Amino acid sequence: MRRSLVILGGSGDLTGRLLLPSLARLEASGDLADVGLLGVSREDLDDDGYRDWARRRLAAHAGDLDEEARERLVGRLRYRPGDVTSSADLRAALDRTDGVPIVYLALPNTVFRPTVDALAAVGLPEGAQVVVEKPFGRDLADARELNAALHRLLPEESVFRVDHFLAKPTVLNVLGLRFANRLFEPVWNAAHVERVDIVFDETLGLEGRAGYYDRAGALRDMLQNHLLQLLALVAMEPPLTVTGGGLASRKADLLRAVRPPVDVRAGSVRGRYTAGEVDGRRLPDYAGEEGVDPARGTETYAEFTVTVENWRWAGVPFRLRTGKAMGTGRKEVVVRFRPVPHLPFTDEEPAPDVLRLQLSPDGIALELNLNGSGDPFDLEREVLTATPPGGDLPAYGLVLRELLGGDTSLAISDVEAEESWRIVEPVLAAWAADEVPLLEYAAGSAGPEARP
Ligand code: BG6
Repeated sequence: MRRSLVILGGSGDLTGRLLLPSLARLEASGDLADVGLLGVSREDLDDDGYRDWARRRLAAHAGDLDEEARERLVGRLRYRPGDVTSSADLRAALDRTDGVPIVYLALPNTVFRPTVDALAAVGLPEGAQVVVEKPFGRDLADARELNAALHRLLPEESVFRVDHFLAKPTVLNVLGLRFANRLFEPVWNAAHVERVDIVFDETLGLEGRAGYYDRAGALRDMLQNHLLQLLALVAMEPPLTVTGGGLASRKADLLRAVRPPVDVRAGSVRGRYTAGEVDGRRLPDYAGEEGVDPARGTETYAEFTVTVENWRWAGVPFRLRTGKAMGTGRKEVVVRFRPVPHLPFTDEEPAPDVLRLQLSPDGIALELNLNGSGDPFDLEREVLTATPPGGDLPAYGLVLRELLGGDTSLAISDVEAEESWRIVEPVLAAWAADEVPLLEYAAGSAGPEARP
Protein backbone atom coordinates (compact mmCIF):
# COMPACT_ATOMS: atom_id res chain seq x y z
CA MET A 1 0.00 0.00 0.00
CA ARG A 2 1.49 3.32 -1.05
CA ARG A 3 1.53 5.90 1.74
CA SER A 4 2.15 9.62 1.80
CA LEU A 5 3.77 11.51 4.63
CA VAL A 6 2.07 14.91 4.81
CA ILE A 7 4.07 17.23 7.05
CA LEU A 8 1.97 20.09 8.40
CA GLY A 9 4.53 22.71 9.44
CA GLY A 10 6.54 21.54 6.45
CA SER A 11 8.83 24.58 6.43
CA GLY A 12 9.12 24.85 10.22
CA ASP A 13 12.05 24.44 12.57
CA LEU A 14 11.28 20.85 13.59
CA THR A 15 10.98 19.75 9.95
CA GLY A 16 14.19 21.47 8.89
CA ARG A 17 16.27 20.50 11.91
CA LEU A 18 15.07 16.97 12.66
CA LEU A 19 12.54 15.45 10.26
CA LEU A 20 14.17 16.12 6.88
CA PRO A 21 17.66 15.09 8.07
CA SER A 22 16.19 11.85 9.42
CA LEU A 23 14.24 11.24 6.21
CA ALA A 24 17.45 11.78 4.23
CA ARG A 25 19.16 9.11 6.32
CA LEU A 26 16.27 6.73 5.67
CA GLU A 27 16.55 7.52 1.97
CA ALA A 28 20.29 6.78 2.10
CA SER A 29 19.73 3.41 3.79
CA GLY A 30 16.91 2.46 1.41
CA ASP A 31 14.28 2.54 4.19
CA LEU A 32 12.10 5.22 2.65
CA ALA A 33 10.76 2.88 -0.01
CA ASP A 34 7.33 3.65 -1.38
CA VAL A 35 6.36 6.82 0.49
CA GLY A 36 5.19 10.13 -0.97
CA LEU A 37 6.38 13.29 0.80
CA LEU A 38 4.41 16.52 0.92
CA GLY A 39 5.15 19.64 2.96
CA VAL A 40 2.34 22.05 3.88
CA SER A 41 2.93 25.47 5.47
CA ARG A 42 1.91 29.09 5.22
CA GLU A 43 5.06 30.02 3.23
CA ASP A 44 4.19 30.92 -0.32
CA LEU A 45 6.50 28.52 -2.12
CA ASP A 46 6.24 26.19 -5.10
CA ASP A 47 7.84 22.74 -5.26
CA ASP A 48 11.15 24.17 -6.47
CA GLY A 49 11.23 26.89 -3.80
CA TYR A 50 10.53 24.27 -1.12
CA ARG A 51 13.25 22.01 -2.46
CA ASP A 52 15.74 24.90 -2.28
CA TRP A 53 14.78 25.50 1.35
CA ALA A 54 15.07 21.78 2.13
CA ARG A 55 18.47 21.61 0.40
CA ARG A 56 19.78 24.38 2.69
CA ARG A 57 18.35 22.75 5.83
CA LEU A 58 19.91 19.42 4.86
CA ALA A 59 23.29 21.04 4.23
CA ALA A 60 23.10 22.59 7.70
CA HIS A 61 21.77 19.58 9.61
CA ALA A 62 22.79 16.50 7.61
CA GLY A 63 25.99 17.79 6.01
CA ASP A 64 27.76 14.51 6.83
CA LEU A 65 25.43 12.58 4.51
CA ASP A 66 26.62 12.33 0.96
CA GLU A 67 25.08 14.92 -1.31
CA GLU A 68 23.64 12.37 -3.68
CA ALA A 69 21.43 10.86 -0.94
CA ARG A 70 20.33 14.33 0.18
CA GLU A 71 19.46 15.19 -3.41
CA ARG A 72 17.47 12.00 -3.83
CA LEU A 73 15.31 13.07 -0.90
CA VAL A 74 15.00 16.64 -2.15
CA GLY A 75 13.86 15.36 -5.53
CA ARG A 76 10.99 13.46 -3.87
CA LEU A 77 9.63 16.44 -1.94
CA ARG A 78 6.50 18.26 -2.97
CA TYR A 79 4.87 21.29 -1.41
CA ARG A 80 1.52 22.95 -1.05
CA PRO A 81 1.11 26.35 0.62
CA GLY A 82 -1.84 26.66 2.98
CA ASP A 83 -3.26 27.38 6.40
CA VAL A 84 -3.22 24.12 8.35
CA THR A 85 -6.28 25.18 10.36
CA SER A 86 -8.37 25.68 7.19
CA SER A 87 -10.26 22.62 6.01
CA ALA A 88 -10.37 23.95 2.45
CA ASP A 89 -6.56 24.26 2.38
CA LEU A 90 -6.13 20.85 3.96
CA ARG A 91 -8.52 19.28 1.44
CA ALA A 92 -6.52 20.81 -1.40
CA ALA A 93 -3.27 19.53 0.14
CA LEU A 94 -4.63 16.01 0.69
CA ASP A 95 -5.83 15.99 -2.93
CA ARG A 96 -2.16 16.30 -3.91
CA THR A 97 -1.26 13.05 -2.16
CA ASP A 98 -1.17 9.77 -4.03
CA GLY A 99 -1.27 7.30 -1.16
CA VAL A 100 -2.92 6.74 2.21
CA PRO A 101 -1.94 9.82 4.21
CA ILE A 102 0.12 9.88 7.38
CA VAL A 103 -0.47 13.42 8.59
CA TYR A 104 2.38 14.67 10.79
CA LEU A 105 1.53 17.70 12.95
CA ALA A 106 5.02 19.28 13.16
CA LEU A 107 3.38 22.34 14.63
CA PRO A 108 3.34 24.43 17.80
CA ASN A 109 1.07 22.71 20.34
CA THR A 110 -1.26 25.72 20.35
CA VAL A 111 -2.35 24.82 16.79
CA PHE A 112 -2.92 21.08 17.33
CA ARG A 113 -6.57 21.42 18.24
CA PRO A 114 -7.77 23.67 15.37
CA THR A 115 -5.74 21.56 12.95
CA VAL A 116 -7.31 18.29 14.16
CA ASP A 117 -10.77 19.89 13.92
CA ALA A 118 -10.05 21.06 10.37
CA LEU A 119 -8.85 17.55 9.44
CA ALA A 120 -12.04 16.09 10.92
CA ALA A 121 -14.11 18.40 8.72
CA VAL A 122 -12.25 17.06 5.67
CA GLY A 123 -12.21 13.43 6.85
CA LEU A 124 -9.36 10.99 6.36
CA PRO A 125 -9.50 7.74 4.37
CA GLU A 126 -9.36 4.23 5.87
CA GLY A 127 -5.85 3.38 7.07
CA ALA A 128 -4.76 7.01 7.54
CA GLN A 129 -2.71 8.01 10.58
CA VAL A 130 -2.15 11.23 12.48
CA VAL A 131 1.13 11.97 14.21
CA VAL A 132 1.18 14.49 17.06
CA GLU A 133 4.25 16.09 18.57
CA LYS A 134 4.86 17.08 22.19
CA PRO A 135 3.92 18.80 24.42
CA PHE A 136 0.52 17.18 23.94
CA GLY A 137 -1.58 20.25 24.81
CA ARG A 138 -1.07 22.76 27.59
CA ASP A 139 -2.65 21.05 30.59
CA LEU A 140 -4.91 18.15 31.52
CA ALA A 141 -8.15 19.75 30.33
CA ASP A 142 -6.56 20.70 27.02
CA ALA A 143 -5.07 17.20 26.55
CA ARG A 144 -8.48 15.64 27.19
CA GLU A 145 -10.10 17.86 24.59
CA LEU A 146 -7.34 17.13 22.13
CA ASN A 147 -7.74 13.39 22.67
CA ALA A 148 -11.50 13.68 22.16
CA ALA A 149 -10.94 15.66 18.95
CA LEU A 150 -8.44 13.06 17.70
CA HIS A 151 -10.86 10.23 18.46
CA ARG A 152 -13.54 12.00 16.41
CA LEU A 153 -11.06 11.95 13.53
CA LEU A 154 -9.51 8.48 13.82
CA PRO A 155 -9.46 5.46 16.16
CA GLU A 156 -6.81 5.55 18.90
CA GLU A 157 -4.68 2.88 17.10
CA SER A 158 -4.21 5.34 14.23
CA VAL A 159 -2.90 8.16 16.43
CA PHE A 160 0.88 8.27 16.92
CA ARG A 161 1.91 10.63 19.74
CA VAL A 162 5.65 11.15 19.41
CA ASP A 163 8.23 11.16 22.18
CA HIS A 164 11.62 10.86 20.52
CA PHE A 165 13.29 10.01 23.86
CA LEU A 166 11.87 6.49 23.56
CA ALA A 167 14.04 5.97 20.47
CA LYS A 168 17.33 6.89 22.16
CA PRO A 169 19.68 3.86 22.42
CA THR A 170 20.02 3.83 26.22
CA VAL A 171 16.30 4.39 26.70
CA LEU A 172 15.40 1.50 24.42
CA ASN A 173 17.97 -0.54 26.27
CA VAL A 174 16.08 -0.16 29.52
CA LEU A 175 13.96 -2.94 27.99
CA GLY A 176 16.99 -5.09 27.16
CA LEU A 177 18.68 -4.49 30.49
CA ARG A 178 15.59 -5.14 32.62
CA PHE A 179 13.85 -7.90 30.73
CA ALA A 180 16.54 -9.81 28.84
CA ASN A 181 18.62 -10.47 31.98
CA ARG A 182 17.92 -12.46 35.15
CA LEU A 183 20.10 -10.16 37.20
CA PHE A 184 18.24 -6.90 37.69
CA GLU A 185 14.54 -7.67 37.93
CA PRO A 186 14.69 -9.48 41.32
CA VAL A 187 16.26 -6.38 42.94
CA TRP A 188 14.20 -3.85 40.96
CA ASN A 189 11.90 -2.84 43.80
CA ALA A 190 11.58 -0.87 47.03
CA ALA A 191 13.24 -3.61 49.09
CA HIS A 192 16.52 -3.06 47.25
CA VAL A 193 16.35 0.36 45.59
CA GLU A 194 16.74 3.42 47.80
CA ARG A 195 16.05 6.17 45.29
CA VAL A 196 16.02 6.97 41.58
CA ASP A 197 17.14 10.25 39.98
CA ILE A 198 16.14 11.12 36.43
CA VAL A 199 18.31 14.02 35.35
CA PHE A 200 18.45 15.83 32.03
CA ASP A 201 20.72 18.88 32.39
CA GLU A 202 21.47 20.62 29.11
CA THR A 203 24.27 23.08 28.41
CA LEU A 204 22.11 24.60 25.64
CA GLY A 205 20.21 27.79 26.41
CA LEU A 206 17.19 29.17 24.60
CA GLU A 207 18.73 28.82 21.11
CA GLY A 208 16.31 31.27 19.50
CA ARG A 209 13.20 29.27 20.48
CA ALA A 210 11.53 31.99 22.59
CA GLY A 211 8.32 31.88 20.53
CA TYR A 212 7.68 28.34 21.72
CA TYR A 213 9.75 27.94 24.88
CA ASP A 214 8.69 31.07 26.73
CA ARG A 215 5.11 29.81 26.70
CA ALA A 216 6.10 26.26 27.61
CA GLY A 217 8.95 26.29 30.14
CA ALA A 218 11.01 23.36 31.36
CA LEU A 219 8.12 21.60 33.09
CA ARG A 220 5.97 21.39 29.96
CA ASP A 221 8.87 21.08 27.50
CA MET A 222 10.73 18.20 29.14
CA LEU A 223 9.35 16.94 32.41
CA GLN A 224 5.72 16.34 31.49
CA ASN A 225 6.73 14.12 28.57
CA HIS A 226 10.35 12.96 28.15
CA LEU A 227 11.23 12.56 31.83
CA LEU A 228 7.95 10.93 32.81
CA GLN A 229 8.38 8.51 29.92
CA LEU A 230 11.80 7.60 31.29
CA LEU A 231 10.24 7.06 34.70
CA ALA A 232 7.51 4.90 33.18
CA LEU A 233 9.98 2.65 31.33
CA VAL A 234 12.30 2.30 34.28
CA ALA A 235 9.57 1.51 36.80
CA MET A 236 6.80 -0.29 34.84
CA GLU A 237 5.88 -3.94 35.25
CA PRO A 238 7.23 -6.34 32.61
CA PRO A 239 5.11 -6.13 29.45
CA LEU A 240 3.88 -9.32 27.83
CA THR A 241 4.91 -7.95 24.46
CA VAL A 242 5.97 -4.55 23.19
CA THR A 243 3.72 -4.57 20.14
CA GLY A 244 -0.03 -4.02 19.87
CA GLY A 245 -0.02 -1.42 22.65
CA GLY A 246 1.64 -3.82 25.15
CA LEU A 247 4.35 -1.36 26.08
CA ALA A 248 2.05 1.67 26.22
CA SER A 249 -0.42 -0.08 28.52
CA ARG A 250 2.31 -1.05 31.04
CA LYS A 251 3.62 2.54 31.00
CA ALA A 252 0.09 3.87 31.44
CA ASP A 253 -0.43 1.62 34.49
CA LEU A 254 2.76 2.91 36.03
CA LEU A 255 1.87 6.55 35.38
CA ARG A 256 -1.52 5.96 37.02
CA ALA A 257 0.34 4.94 40.19
CA VAL A 258 2.52 8.06 40.30
CA ARG A 259 1.66 10.46 43.09
CA PRO A 260 2.71 14.06 42.55
CA PRO A 261 4.48 15.86 45.40
CA VAL A 262 2.02 16.30 48.26
CA ASP A 263 3.69 19.51 49.39
CA VAL A 264 4.65 21.25 46.13
CA ARG A 265 6.55 23.97 47.99
CA ALA A 266 8.86 21.46 49.61
CA GLY A 267 8.84 18.95 46.78
CA SER A 268 9.67 21.10 43.76
CA VAL A 269 12.29 23.59 42.55
CA ARG A 270 11.69 26.22 39.89
CA GLY A 271 14.57 28.22 38.41
CA ARG A 272 15.55 30.58 35.62
CA TYR A 273 19.06 31.25 34.35
CA THR A 274 20.82 34.58 34.43
CA ALA A 275 23.83 35.61 32.33
CA GLY A 276 26.88 33.40 32.48
CA GLU A 277 29.30 31.31 30.50
CA VAL A 278 28.73 27.75 29.29
CA ASP A 279 31.42 25.81 27.41
CA GLY A 280 33.24 29.09 26.68
CA ARG A 281 30.05 30.66 25.27
CA ARG A 282 28.59 33.75 26.88
CA LEU A 283 24.82 33.43 27.44
CA PRO A 284 22.65 36.46 28.27
CA ASP A 285 20.01 36.54 30.98
CA TYR A 286 17.10 34.33 29.89
CA ALA A 287 14.75 37.18 30.84
CA GLY A 288 16.58 39.55 28.48
CA GLU A 289 16.50 37.25 25.42
CA GLU A 290 14.63 38.47 22.37
CA GLY A 291 11.01 37.33 22.41
CA VAL A 292 10.99 36.52 26.14
CA ASP A 293 8.43 38.20 28.36
CA PRO A 294 10.03 38.19 31.83
CA ALA A 295 6.62 38.76 33.43
CA ARG A 296 5.57 35.24 32.37
CA GLY A 297 8.00 33.87 34.93
CA THR A 298 8.92 30.98 32.63
CA GLU A 299 11.23 28.45 34.27
CA THR A 300 14.32 27.07 32.55
CA TYR A 301 14.93 24.63 35.39
CA ALA A 302 12.31 22.29 36.81
CA GLU A 303 12.60 19.65 39.47
CA PHE A 304 10.19 17.62 41.53
CA THR A 305 10.04 14.38 43.42
CA VAL A 306 7.26 11.83 43.07
CA THR A 307 6.51 8.44 44.54
CA VAL A 308 4.99 5.43 42.84
CA GLU A 309 2.18 4.06 44.95
CA ASN A 310 2.21 0.41 44.05
CA TRP A 311 3.42 -2.86 45.57
CA ARG A 312 6.82 -2.67 43.90
CA TRP A 313 7.82 0.93 44.59
CA ALA A 314 5.89 2.35 47.57
CA GLY A 315 8.10 4.76 49.51
CA VAL A 316 10.93 5.11 46.97
CA PRO A 317 11.53 8.72 45.87
CA PHE A 318 11.90 9.34 42.14
CA ARG A 319 13.42 12.77 41.56
CA LEU A 320 12.98 14.29 38.09
CA ARG A 321 14.98 17.31 37.08
CA THR A 322 15.94 19.22 33.97
CA GLY A 323 17.62 22.52 33.28
CA LYS A 324 18.87 24.64 30.40
CA ALA A 325 22.23 26.48 30.38
CA MET A 326 23.65 24.21 33.04
CA GLY A 327 27.41 23.92 33.58
CA THR A 328 27.47 20.21 32.81
CA GLY A 329 25.36 18.27 30.33
CA ARG A 330 24.49 15.49 32.74
CA LYS A 331 21.78 13.27 31.30
CA GLU A 332 21.14 10.06 33.15
CA VAL A 333 18.87 7.85 35.17
CA VAL A 334 20.60 6.93 38.43
CA VAL A 335 19.34 3.92 40.36
CA ARG A 336 20.82 3.88 43.90
CA PHE A 337 20.58 0.58 45.75
CA ARG A 338 20.19 0.16 49.51
CA PRO A 339 23.22 -0.68 51.69
CA VAL A 340 24.14 -4.33 52.25
CA PRO A 341 22.61 -5.75 55.47
CA HIS A 342 25.96 -6.87 56.93
CA LEU A 343 29.59 -6.43 55.93
CA PRO A 344 31.91 -9.10 57.35
CA PHE A 345 35.29 -7.38 57.14
CA THR A 346 35.37 -3.62 57.63
CA ASP A 347 33.76 -0.93 59.72
CA GLU A 348 33.76 1.33 56.74
CA GLU A 349 30.27 2.02 55.42
CA PRO A 350 30.46 1.12 51.71
CA ALA A 351 28.98 3.46 49.14
CA PRO A 352 25.74 2.09 47.68
CA ASP A 353 25.77 0.19 44.42
CA VAL A 354 24.73 2.58 41.68
CA LEU A 355 23.48 1.85 38.19
CA ARG A 356 23.69 4.75 35.75
CA LEU A 357 21.79 4.74 32.46
CA GLN A 358 23.51 7.54 30.58
CA LEU A 359 21.72 9.24 27.73
CA SER A 360 24.42 11.38 26.17
CA PRO A 361 26.82 9.95 25.32
CA ASP A 362 24.92 6.71 25.61
CA GLY A 363 26.28 4.32 28.19
CA ILE A 364 25.46 2.05 31.09
CA ALA A 365 27.68 2.12 34.19
CA LEU A 366 27.43 -0.09 37.25
CA GLU A 367 29.37 1.18 40.28
CA LEU A 368 30.34 -1.63 42.64
CA ASN A 369 32.45 -2.12 45.77
CA LEU A 370 35.27 -4.66 45.39
CA ASN A 371 38.15 -5.76 47.56
CA GLY A 372 41.05 -3.31 47.59
CA SER A 373 44.28 -3.83 45.70
CA GLY A 374 46.52 -3.13 48.74
CA ASP A 375 44.78 -4.40 51.87
CA PRO A 376 42.26 -6.86 50.41
CA PHE A 377 39.83 -6.05 53.23
CA ASP A 378 39.67 -2.40 52.28
CA LEU A 379 37.10 -1.54 49.69
CA GLU A 380 37.63 -0.02 46.30
CA ARG A 381 35.06 1.41 43.95
CA GLU A 382 35.01 -0.11 40.47
CA VAL A 383 32.83 0.79 37.54
CA LEU A 384 31.67 -1.70 34.91
CA THR A 385 30.68 0.10 31.75
CA ALA A 386 28.89 -0.85 28.55
CA THR A 387 27.84 1.05 25.49
CA PRO A 388 24.36 0.07 24.37
CA PRO A 389 24.30 -0.80 20.72
CA GLY A 390 22.46 1.88 18.77
CA GLY A 391 22.07 2.02 15.02
CA ASP A 392 23.23 4.84 12.78
CA LEU A 393 19.88 6.54 12.98
CA PRO A 394 19.19 9.49 15.27
CA ALA A 395 16.13 9.13 17.54
CA TYR A 396 13.83 10.92 15.09
CA GLY A 397 15.06 8.66 12.30
CA LEU A 398 14.08 5.60 14.29
CA VAL A 399 10.67 7.08 15.14
CA LEU A 400 10.04 7.80 11.44
CA ARG A 401 11.25 4.37 10.36
CA GLU A 402 8.88 2.67 12.84
CA LEU A 403 6.02 4.94 11.85
CA LEU A 404 6.49 4.47 8.11
CA GLY A 405 7.00 0.74 8.62
CA GLY A 406 3.58 0.54 10.32
CA ASP A 407 4.94 -0.22 13.81
CA THR A 408 3.32 1.74 16.65
CA SER A 409 5.27 0.27 19.60
CA LEU A 410 6.91 3.64 20.32
CA ALA A 411 3.69 5.66 20.19
CA ILE A 412 2.40 7.30 23.37
CA SER A 413 -1.21 6.43 24.21
CA ASP A 414 -4.08 8.76 25.10
CA VAL A 415 -4.04 7.51 28.71
CA GLU A 416 -0.30 8.13 29.08
CA ALA A 417 -0.65 11.69 27.77
CA GLU A 418 -3.46 12.51 30.19
CA GLU A 419 -1.87 10.78 33.20
CA SER A 420 1.35 12.72 32.61
CA TRP A 421 -0.59 15.98 32.77
CA ARG A 422 -2.38 14.80 35.92
CA ILE A 423 1.02 14.28 37.56
CA VAL A 424 2.41 17.72 36.73
CA GLU A 425 -0.84 19.65 37.19
CA PRO A 426 -0.47 20.43 40.95
CA VAL A 427 3.06 21.67 40.29
CA LEU A 428 1.93 23.79 37.33
CA ALA A 429 -0.84 25.30 39.46
CA ALA A 430 1.41 26.09 42.44
CA TRP A 431 4.06 27.63 40.18
CA ALA A 432 1.49 29.69 38.27
CA ALA A 433 0.23 31.05 41.61
CA ASP A 434 3.84 31.87 42.59
CA GLU A 435 3.62 29.61 45.62
CA VAL A 436 7.10 28.34 44.77
CA PRO A 437 9.74 31.04 44.24
CA LEU A 438 11.44 31.39 40.86
CA LEU A 439 15.09 30.97 41.87
CA GLU A 440 17.89 32.35 39.74
CA TYR A 441 21.00 30.44 38.73
CA ALA A 442 23.89 31.67 36.61
CA ALA A 443 24.25 30.06 33.18
CA GLY A 444 27.11 27.57 33.48
CA SER A 445 26.42 26.83 37.16
CA ALA A 446 25.05 23.66 38.77
CA GLY A 447 21.52 25.09 38.93
CA PRO A 448 19.47 26.82 41.63
CA GLU A 449 21.10 26.53 45.04
CA ALA A 450 23.85 24.47 43.39
CA ARG A 451 21.89 21.27 43.73
CA PRO A 452 23.90 18.08 43.05
C1 BG6 B 1 13.06 18.56 22.93
C2 BG6 B 1 12.93 19.82 23.74
O1 BG6 B 1 11.87 17.83 22.93
O2 BG6 B 1 14.11 17.78 23.49
C3 BG6 B 1 14.23 20.59 23.77
O3 BG6 B 1 11.90 20.64 23.18
C4 BG6 B 1 15.37 19.70 24.25
O4 BG6 B 1 14.12 21.73 24.61
C5 BG6 B 1 15.38 18.41 23.45
O5 BG6 B 1 16.57 20.40 24.07
C6 BG6 B 1 16.40 17.43 24.02
O6 BG6 B 1 16.43 16.27 23.24
P1 BG6 B 1 17.72 15.84 22.44
O7 BG6 B 1 17.36 14.60 21.74
O8 BG6 B 1 18.05 16.97 21.53
O9 BG6 B 1 18.78 15.65 23.48
